[in-house]
Amino acid sequence: MRKKYILVIGSVNADILIEIDRLPALGETIAASTPHTGTFSPGGKGANQAAGVARLARSLQAKFACQFGNDTHGENLKQILHNEKVDISLSGEHLCPSGQAFIFLYPSGDNSIIIVGGANSKWSIPLSKKLQNAVKEATIVLLQSEIPSEINGLVTTLAYEHNVPVMWDTGGEDRAVPKELLSKISFLCPNETEISRLVGFDVKNKEDAIAAARQIQSQGGQNVIITLGSNGSIFVPSNSSETPTFQPCYSVEKVVDTTGAGDSYRSAFAVAFAEGKSICECMQFAAAASALTIQTKGALNSLPTSEQVEEFLQHNKRAKFRAY
Ligand code: RIB
Repeated sequence: MRKKYILVIGSVNADILIEIDRLPALGETIAASTPHTGTFSPGGKGANQAAGVARLARSLQAKFACQFGNDTHGENLKQILHNEKVDISLSGEHLCPSGQAFIFLYPSGDNSIIIVGGANSKWSIPLSKKLQNAVKEATIVLLQSEIPSEINGLVTTLAYEHNVPVMWDTGGEDRAVPKELLSKISFLCPNETEISRLVGFDVKNKEDAIAAARQIQSQGGQNVIITLGSNGSIFVPSNSSETPTFQPCYSVEKVVDTTGAGDSYRSAFAVAFAEGKSICECMQFAAAASALTIQTKGALNSLPTSEQVEEFLQHNKRAKFRAY
């Protein structure tokens, strides 16, 4: 029987977006670039990916397991996810502050982010029966690196035992992916900075990215999808005799805020994959979703709907994938 939902397990954050011209030096105080910044918006890689799935999927539901704090942020975040039609019934609430992310946004649209775990660290082991069952029945499970790695490990192993594909976004805390899990992760998804950390050398271009993916695969890794910012993305298949696929970025008029672009890409790829699209189509759909995301301020708030992505693709047919 066809499975009916995508399960995201991960973080939910209150994002505090601060527009700056530059970061302060040690011991220095500077003002934000406008006094009207520093506002709350919903985020967290898990929440963004879950909302991304909800906005993009046509027939699949978005289920999200996360941990909320018992503060006003927690209440707001629950309401926002509920309004997005994300099923949060697998989530918990704790007597502590919600997770937060302090996002420093530069005039170029790039950012620097500091996350404060808060409730995102409050997961219990073993996994609840409800969550275990949800993992076993999912079409695909999406993980990131902003909740305890033991949870990601347990989920990955369980999903693998039940033939459920796992997409693991290495974004978040700077930590290694345990070697024994590599063979169980269907899609490992680092960006250029994260893959450099994982392999121990600088990944600056497509050639480096392929070499890095092959290094991970020599240790048991499966498919690796590397997002290279404005340089596009590359899919390196687990089967080394197959050619990697490169997807260029779509050019946009103005990059306003790149926050959430990676989450947008990953959720769009997962939705397209779960809906039976080819890898090339998944990459194209994902690139279009992230091109739309970077044109608006905020993370979760800037994620596109499936209609917006389809319309964008109609008008931007040129950024075609190609075998690399
Ligand atoms: O990927 C963007 C997200 O990273 C932000 O929403 C922030 O919460 C951090 O988790």
